[in-house]
Parts: sequence; structure tokens; C-alpha cells
Amino acid sequence: MNWFTKTFSSTIGRKIVMSVTGLFLCSFLVVHLLGNLTLFRNDGGEAFNLYSHFMASNGVIRAMEIVLVLGFLFHIYDAIVLSRRNKGARPVNYAENHPEQNTTSWASRNMGLLGTVILVFLIVHLWNFFVPARFGSLDPVLIENVEYDNLYTSVVEAFKNPIYVLIYVLGMIALAYHLIHGFQSAFQSLGLTHKKYTPFIQIFGFAFSVLICLGFAIIPLYFFFTQQ
Ligand code: HEM
Repeated sequence: MNWFTKTFSSTIGRKIVMSVTGLFLCSFLVVHLLGNLTLFRNDGGEAFNLYSHFMASNGVIRAMEIVLVLGFLFHIYDAIVLSRRNKGARPVNYAENHPEQNTTSWASRNMGLLGTVILVFLIVHLWNFFVPARFGSLDPVLIENVEYDNLYTSVVEAFKNPIYVLIYVLGMIALAYHLIHGFQSAFQSLGLTHKKYTPFIQIFGFAFSVLICLGFAIIPLYFFFTQQ
């Protein structure tokens, strides 16, 4: 095994990969939410359809999509390996176990469960929008005499369905808890801890997680209650 494979398959190497991919996925969430907020413009979906078209046709964005998929895959794979290793390190449970006193929060003890709920959300989500946008045929819409896919209508239609609204809202609650723990944990794994800065990172991570997830969750709720 060469040094590279050795480093990135060690526990600390895997934690570093999880932290870097996790922070990269956070930056994706910011860009994705900013684009999705164009749904609230009162323009019949014009800005949103133009934004989606740009995302689907721009070469740089398409290349970043490959990085994004790799980011998700490495993040999930290393999470599974690390949690197996943790279980293997203590195959027999403590005679007396009070998990609520052992670790800092409910989220930190349930990252696997939260991650699984997010993965289910993501599969439903990609099936809703990404698959029809890239591989299906959406209704066309004319914007300044040019034909674009009408992804805006797909969003409006999807969020008339209360089951989708529920899946999205539950997905965002899970994502918020996952990020609240994951954000500060990433800095810890990267060794970026400091008496002075760590409280700021924790407060920033909390505000970031809540605001991003609220921003996403408002979208299905808004369309459900305004477009029936
Ligand atoms: C209500 C909230 C959301 C809406 C309305 C929404 C909408 C969309 C749409 C329309 C697409 C297809 C874009 C295209 O292919 O042109 C898309 C793609 C995608 N979404 Fe979302 N999204 C939401 C939340 C999220 C969240 C929370 C995540 C991650 C946890 C996420 C991850 C993705 C990914 C990975 C893709 C495929 C990559 C891409 O096209 O950039 N989305 N979303």
C-alpha cells in the first residue's frame, strides 16, 4: 500500500475526506438555494427556468456536477466505513450505557440515521426534477422567442402533492440536525479548533444550518399553500 492509500484509508484520513466533502456540499447548498429563491419572483417562472437552463448547459457547472457526485459518494462511503470501524472497536456493548451523557448531542449520536433520511430525500428529489430535466422531456416555454424546458411547472406540480411536501420538510429537518453537528465536527476533524474561534464556528454553523434548511423548506410549503 503506498502512502496515499494508507493515509486516506486511515481513520483520520477518512475523517478529513468526510470534512472536506461535507464543507464542499455545504457550498453547493448555498448556490442551489440562491438559484431556487428565483422561484419566488413573481414572473411566471421565467428567472427560474433561465437559471435551470444555465445550470444544465454550462460546461463548468456540468464538470462541477461530476465533482458533486464524487463528493456525495466519498462522504457516504467514508461514513459507512467509519461507523463500522467504531462498532468493531467495541463489539460488546457497555454493561451500563447512558448515551445521552456520553456525547454532546442527539444529532452527533444519530448522524447515520439523519444521513439515511437525507439520502432517501435526495433520491426522491433527483427523481422529481433532475431525472426529467436531464433525461426526460419537459413541456417547453417561450422566453423572448427562445424555447426552454419549463422546470418551473414541474416544481409547482410536485408541491401540490402533500406527500412530497412532507418528504421535503422532513428531509430538511434531518438536514438541519445533520449540518448542525457536521459543520462544527468538520472543523474539529481538520484540527481547526481554537479557544477563541471555536464558539464562533459553532454559532455560525448553527445559524447556517437553520437558515439554509428553512430556506429550502419554505419552497414546498409556499407552493402547497398558494398553488392548489
Ligand atoms: C425545496 C427545495 C429544493 C428545490 C425546489 C430543488 C430544485 C431542484 C431542481 C429543479 C433541480 C434540477 C436542476 C436541473 O437539473 O436543471 C435540482 C437538482 C438537484 N438538487 Fe435540488 N432542490 C431543492 C433542495 C435540494 C436539497 C436540500 C439538496 C441537497 C441536500 C438538493 C440537491 C440537488 C442535487 C444534488 C441536484 C442535481 C445536481 C444539479 O442539478 O445541480 N436539492 N434541484
